[in-house]
Amino acid sequence: MAFLRHSVCTLLFWSLAVSYLVVASPQCATHNETFVPDAVLRVTESNISQSCYPSKATVLVNGTSPGPELRIKEGITYWIRAYNDMQDKNLTMHWHGLTQAMAPFADGTPQASQWPIPPLYFFDYEIHVPIGMAGTYFYHSHVGFQAVSGTGPLIVEEHGASPYHYDEDKIVFLQDVFVKDESTIEAGLVASPLSWSGESAMVLVNGKGGGSANGTACNASLSTIEVEPGKTYRLRFIGGTALTFASLAFEDHDLEIIEADGHYTQPYNTSYLQIGTGQRFSALLRTRPNPEKSTYYLQVESRERPTLTRGFAVLNYGLKPTIPFLPPNDLPLTLPNTTRGFLDYELHPLSPPKDFPTAEEVTRRITMTVHQRVLGPTIWVQNDYPWTETFPQEPYLVSLYNNNSLEFPSMERALANDGIDPISRAFPAQIGEVLEIVIQNTGADKGGLDVHPFHAHGAHYWDLGSGNRTYDQASNEVKIQEHGHPIQRDTTMLYRYATTTTNGTNMGWRAWRIRVTEPGVWMIHCHILQHMIMGMQTIWVFGNETEVLGKVGVPEVQGYLTYGGSVYGNENRWPSVVHFTDNEGSDAWTDNQ
Ligand code: C2O
Ligand code: CU
Repeated sequence: MAFLRHSVCTLLFWSLAVSYLVVASPQCATHNETFVPDAVLRVTESNISQSCYPSKATVLVNGTSPGPELRIKEGITYWIRAYNDMQDKNLTMHWHGLTQAMAPFADGTPQASQWPIPPLYFFDYEIHVPIGMAGTYFYHSHVGFQAVSGTGPLIVEEHGASPYHYDEDKIVFLQDVFVKDESTIEAGLVASPLSWSGESAMVLVNGKGGGSANGTACNASLSTIEVEPGKTYRLRFIGGTALTFASLAFEDHDLEIIEADGHYTQPYNTSYLQIGTGQRFSALLRTRPNPEKSTYYLQVESRERPTLTRGFAVLNYGLKPTIPFLPPNDLPLTLPNTTRGFLDYELHPLSPPKDFPTAEEVTRRITMTVHQRVLGPTIWVQNDYPWTETFPQEPYLVSLYNNNSLEFPSMERALANDGIDPISRAFPAQIGEVLEIVIQNTGADKGGLDVHPFHAHGAHYWDLGSGNRTYDQASNEVKIQEHGHPIQRDTTMLYRYATTTTNGTNMGWRAWRIRVTEPGVWMIHCHILQHMIMGMQTIWVFGNETEVLGKVGVPEVQGYLTYGGSVYGNENRWPSVVHFTDNEGSDAWTDNQ
């Protein structure tokens, strides 16, 4: 791609030999009229009606929810421009599942990596997916509850050929609809006492859905997945829901899982799928050579909630419908109850992993204990600390650069305090460490237990599995030996093994292993949007001060350090940004450009 690079700043760059990713010399550049972004996302808020619910203020991307399908290739750097066209709301765009280690201000997290984009400004995101991470991802705003609708699919294609053969690929994007609007939900979640969002009123498939919610029928039109007989389709399931832990299946069609969270797996046959918010799976669906009927339902149901929400879509062998399909009168399928530990120990990498960290290599185990408190507002804490949009006052990385309100996290204090530094509220780790991160479910103040899809930014972890009570490395190792290599993931479920227990009882764990290789400030959080707003988020700082802040110095990143700083463009001003990688491509595209 061609654009001019203006020398508006001088860069002092310390080449850190810490990365297997592209480590190029950062360059300053003004994105003036000669700069053409690879894709443009325009975020607005408009009144629209979804499913069978009345119209309300909804965050849209390029006019729709979900937004356009974005396709990029691994190994190439892209620039995606995100416009905040909302009148009175901040915005960020997060590239869910991408590791973004090379472009520290482009992860799209308002509390960690950047100031949010002010109303009527835009920001250019630099995106680079390392070779080997092609797969299924999505993008979403990381501000408040906006991701409920301000989201869309992000597909990373291989540099070469896909290891699996299929005729076509199709997206199955899951979302929730709530009756209340996003601002009302957000305000209620931080209110004292809590005013709950309400349950999901419908699970949408590719933006549409009807079925029932808490026993009440919702007769809205359905999405269709158009297929032909005797073919193989790669269905890319994306858990873009806010709350719903979905169980789904097709009538008379099985699925063969081939990818989880951006990693190819050995093929695994299943008749149904469980998918939590933030998770992605690809599965091959082989259509019937001689279908007995022209339409088969896809049935999707919520799990682990007090009420049941059920939605449908249609696998259509016939002509494109002239009038939309509606939900069935009779239930086509009975979906199984929650399978705890679904696919744990069962999925294995397609090619043998080279760098799975063994138990012997683990240098430190950090147990992150999650707990719900009900004093005053209802909040979620991790090792006794919540993380909300009011703490910290600045994005964490910005604070570290500004060196004003936050001290760099202290390893010493963290080691003395179960891994978290109580002053900076971060979990610090040194480059070279091999962490075992155990997420521990506990009975809430009132005894309740919940399920949580835990998501990590910055790196994919090796998922060691899950179980009841507390983690025991020795017995889990035996299980791993028996089953074979785990896979890398970025979002996996913390289950509950009862709906209530006593306050503080350890009941349910999930364990990850991660090699700390990339310096940066990363979030680990539950992906249920309600829980995030209620404090269920943590910040991890990988690397020491020189490694984290030394990539580019303060004078060069000045434009990133203030709200609405010079890296944010608007009608009257081109942004001046830092290019952290080179190797630009020009073939990202969206389907509605
Ligand atoms: Cu999709 Cu921080 O998350
Ligand atoms: Cu949660």
